[in-house]
Amino acid sequence: MIQESSEDRHPFLKGLSKHRGAPPTVVVIFGASGDLTARKLVPAIFNLGIDNLLPGEFHLIGYGRKPIEDEAFREMMDAAIEEFSRRPLNKEIWERVRQNMTYHAGGYDEAEAFASLAARINKIEADLGRDMQRMFYISTPPSVFEPIIKNIGSSGMAQAHVHTKLASKVVVEKPFGHDLESARDLNKAINGVFEEPQVYRIDHYLGKETVQDLLVQRFGNSIFEPLWNREYIDCVQITVAESLGVGSRGGYYDSSGALRDMIQNHTMQLVALTAMEPPVSLDPESIRDEKVKVIRAIQPLELKAGGGDVVRARYTNGLVKGEPVKGYLEESGIPKDSTTETYAAMRLAINNWRWQGVPFYIRSGKRMARRASEIAIQFKRPPGILFSEGDKFNVAANTMVISIQPDEGVTIVMNSKIPGLETRTQPVKMHFRYSTTFGSNTPEAYERLILDAMVGDSTLFIRGDETEASWKLVTPVLKHWEACGEHGLQDYAAGSWGPLASERLLWERRHQWRRSG
Ligand code: BG6
Repeated sequence: MIQESSEDRHPFLKGLSKHRGAPPTVVVIFGASGDLTARKLVPAIFNLGIDNLLPGEFHLIGYGRKPIEDEAFREMMDAAIEEFSRRPLNKEIWERVRQNMTYHAGGYDEAEAFASLAARINKIEADLGRDMQRMFYISTPPSVFEPIIKNIGSSGMAQAHVHTKLASKVVVEKPFGHDLESARDLNKAINGVFEEPQVYRIDHYLGKETVQDLLVQRFGNSIFEPLWNREYIDCVQITVAESLGVGSRGGYYDSSGALRDMIQNHTMQLVALTAMEPPVSLDPESIRDEKVKVIRAIQPLELKAGGGDVVRARYTNGLVKGEPVKGYLEESGIPKDSTTETYAAMRLAINNWRWQGVPFYIRSGKRMARRASEIAIQFKRPPGILFSEGDKFNVAANTMVISIQPDEGVTIVMNSKIPGLETRTQPVKMHFRYSTTFGSNTPEAYERLILDAMVGDSTLFIRGDETEASWKLVTPVLKHWEACGEHGLQDYAAGSWGPLASERLLWERRHQWRRSG
């Protein structure tokens, strides 16, 4: 059997985590024949196995509509490990995980299929002679989230075990709703079956090492925090750029768009972690309380045709890394009359003591010049007394760039004297690179998140009120864009840094987008 682990043997768990090892667990993945299961979930579980982080008694049940034999499912997962695992196949470990993997076919709204799932779990427990925690991982299209949750409830599987008190838990993938109202409805449906501490809403950005490190950078160093406010910071720019297009996900993407797909969740989490107040402790509720407070402090966005605080755009054909690529409307599965944005940018005003008057510019898009997610903190310039000629100011503003991916690291841009007999200055960079200091084989986001959910640490998951606060901010934008249709939807060439109109958001405040990288 796979042994329980200790934190000492696994230094990557140190710091923010308080892992104690997970109790015996049955994980049920709904949507088991889908892409995420093969690309991320099962490879993450296998890698937890390599690190000795799976519980001693562990079973995985794939649940899906397609009838698949247990062995055929295992073979599908063999291929997934081969193709997507972070580390190469370790036969012994994989065999141990694989032996404890089965498949259960059934509809998502079929009560009998859930009753037989419950019977199957009971049998696994009876064979082992002990209770197991049940972890339901919902990785299906959102249209079936609610029936799944309802059926978990009515089949009795959400209840804790009577004697051992081992609770059940539910992990819910994104998209969590498509606007404020649907997110509230989904929260209601979930909270009708599970208590909030049993609910783990996924935002995989929170599983990224660099995103977790934001808290350490901010609150584990005394040199940054005194400067982290309106006195010293001029603006904050958050970019989540992808060079990929929509690929084979056209159907999903066209009903979503950049605002729902990236801004409401991933980008807003980066805003929250950058702007939040220090939590009183590192326990999940203290951190999530601070995040929700800061999201609520963001002012409603000004929406007007051709102006205001938001910009949306769609890519046309162009060149990405020198290769010609199609425009969004030519991608497969995209209706010719689509008005879905593949790029969104916003100017946020956080109206609290720390941030009043400091714009937070955020942008996210597909088919941009390159993949780059970063948070750039632009500090105010020093007084221009010493290093200016006439009206020309000769020192650049200091910038701290936290690079989330790829090239994970932190760069500080500062001014230095160019060696020579004159006093001339030049911006220079101080770099910290994760890969140089720590090596490059860091855990995948899903490894951390699945482990945390199993051990019951919800710090890196989104609380119900947090997701609603974020939807509350973006829903008026979605409605406005819907009403505008094509009007105001800008173009940008694939391979560029987005539409010219997004520069306006910054020019209006005498700022300029940083060129990433
Ligand atoms: C997903 C979005 O949540 O995040 C995708 O649905 C996007 O459209 C992906 O490509 C980006 O994740 P990462 O980890 O590659 O930055």
